[in-house]
This record gives sequence, structure tokens and C-alpha cells, in this order.
Amino acid sequence: MITIPTPVTRLLGTRLPVIQAGMSWASSSSALPLAVSRSGGLGVVAAGPMRPDDLARVLDETAAGTDLPWGVNLPLHRADADGVIDLLLSRRPPVLIASQGGPRRYLERFRDVGTVCLHVVAGAEHARKAADAGVDGLVVVGAEAGGHPPPTMVTTQVLVRAVVSAVPGIPVIASGGIADGAGLAAMLALGAGAAQFGTRFLATREATVHPDYKAAVLAAGVEDTRTVGHGLGLIRAVGNDFTERMRRLEESAATLDVRRKEFQGASLKDAALHGRVHDGKVEAGQSAGLVDSVLPAADVVARIVTEYRSALTRLPAPTLHREP
Ligand SMILES: Cc1cc2nc3c(=O)[nH]c(=O)nc-3n(C[C@H](O)[C@H](O)[C@H](O)COP(=O)(O)O)c2cc1C
Repeated sequence: MITIPTPVTRLLGTRLPVIQAGMSWASSSSALPLAVSRSGGLGVVAAGPMRPDDLARVLDETAAGTDLPWGVNLPLHRADADGVIDLLLSRRPPVLIASQGGPRRYLERFRDVGTVCLHVVAGAEHARKAADAGVDGLVVVGAEAGGHPPPTMVTTQVLVRAVVSAVPGIPVIASGGIADGAGLAAMLALGAGAAQFGTRFLATREATVHPDYKAAVLAAGVEDTRTVGHGLGLIRAVGNDFTERMRRLEESAATLDVRRKEFQGASLKDAALHGRVHDGKVEAGQSAGLVDSVLPAADVVARIVTEYRSALTRLPAPTLHREP
């Protein structure tokens, strides 16, 4: 059994520094999180779009399905976030990954029940604040990411270095644009302790999105995603009729109200659950262009480990040449 020990695996208790990103709908069930946790990574339930009763059921299924660590992602902008926090506390998930809000709101209560608290950050200043508040680790999401990239559009490679220098010593998970073991090796070399994979795990058998959504991700090249929704909660999604309409509005400087109407008229749910891949939000990262097959999640994890090992063998050791 292979282990890749890092500060993040020690914090989380996983065998591998491979985190499956919380992805609304795609991991809003126990299937994908369980498959990843059972393979040695950290599977993460996406609580964002779930009704409390569905969430309670999925948390119970996940807890019953493995003794290994797993996590839950909670976007704090949910209108009923306080109620969902109470629900999560009652289930004591091993790991919480909170996004889109400040950590002080939840930290102490999760600490009391023994949950490891990770916070998603989009820059060094944000990282410093979360570290000062006392989070156990940080998830740094760069511009390549599917879902919500940082509005500053700083890349993962640069952000990870900035955060590692700004808050030395805190475990950091790199996210955005990482789709294979070479990407994992690169992120560990930059000073992260693990990589979080979103788009790669969309193209798995267990991801609960429509087959046409998976096909759209497979068909996309590295240049085929678009960022739309400036000032409205920027998203990165595979280019389609919806992103094209948004682009036209954004380039014609349409008012915020007009853009909001178009933006809110399309949804991730329609694309993910009903296969509306032309008009819906097919959220995915640039690394869609690096993903070429739908695999069982366990095979994705195994492949990442193999690719990681071969990436390490490609790195030349520095050689000392004596002056003649
Ligand atoms: C379909 C989809 C849904 C997502 N939903 C969420 C979410 O509910 N909460 C969240 O914090 N991030 C969400 N994200 C962002 C991911 O957690 C992660 O940061 C991102 O996918 C990493 O970039 P990558 O796709 O390049 O691997 C989502 C991403 C995708 C592709």
C-alpha cells in the first residue's frame, strides 16, 4: 500500500495528498466521496445545493460507508448556513472545508467536536486572516479552477507560492488546474502539502452529473472554458450558448441588472442534473482539456499515484561539477 506522507496527510489522516474537491451536484451524494476516501484520498460531500434532509441522509451514508477520513464542503453564503452548521455539528464530519465567508463564524464549534477545519482562500491577505483566526489548513484556489476562480485571476502556481510565504507553517492544499500526478508533484514542489482535484473527478463514474455534462468536459480543450459573471460571482465553465450570451453582454457594458438576469437565468443544476449543456452552467476548469476519459474514481486516484512517481523520476538531481 503506497503512502505519500505530507503535513496535509498527517493533519487529515489520509494515506495520500489527494483531495476530491467539493462540487455542487457532482459530489452532493455519498458515491464519489466514498470512492475517493476508500482509495486513500479525501472524499468531500458538497453541501452547497443540498436540502437539509438530503444532506443529513448523505452524511449518514458516508459515515456508515467508511472508517477512513472524509469531508464536507460548506459555502457559507447559503441563506440557511447557521442551520446547516448545526446539522453538520450533529454529524461530526472528520473534515470541514468552508468557502465563501469568514472562519470565525464556525471555527470554535467544529473544534469542540473534533472536526479538522480547512478554509478556502483566494489570496495571501485572505490566507493570513484565516490563519490568524485559527483554521487548521488552507485550500488555495487559483484562476484555472472550475466553479469559482478568484476574481483577481491569479494562477494557482503564483498563489500557492504567495500563500506559503505569507503564512509559513500552515498546511496548504493547492487547487485549480491540477488533473494528474505531475500536477500533484508540481504543487508539492511549490510548498503545498496536497492537491485538490475538481474537474478530474467530474469525469468519473461516481460523479453525479448527467452523462452529457461529462461528455462536454471530455470534449473541451484547454482553451475551451470561459469566465463569466464579473461582479456577480465569477464562474469558469465550458463555453456554450450561455457563456457566449454573457460574453456579449459583458463586452457591450450592459448594466449589472441585465447581466444578472442572464446570469441567474442559467444554472449549474440544469446542466448537471438535466443535461442542459448548451444553456446551463457547465462549470469546469481549464484542466478539462487534460482529461480524456471517464474512469472509476479509484482508478483516477491510482493513476495520480503512478503519474506522481514517474514525475519524480523525471526530475534531474543537481550534479556538482568540480572546476578543472
Ligand atoms: C461543477 C463544479 C462545482 C463546484 N461546486 C463547488 C462548491 O459547491 N463549493 C466550493 O467551495 N467549490 C466548488 N467548486 C470548486 C471546486 O471545489 C474546486 O475549487 C475546483 O474545481 C478546483 O479546480 P479544478 O476544477 O481545476 O480542479 C466547484 C467546481 C466545479 C467544477
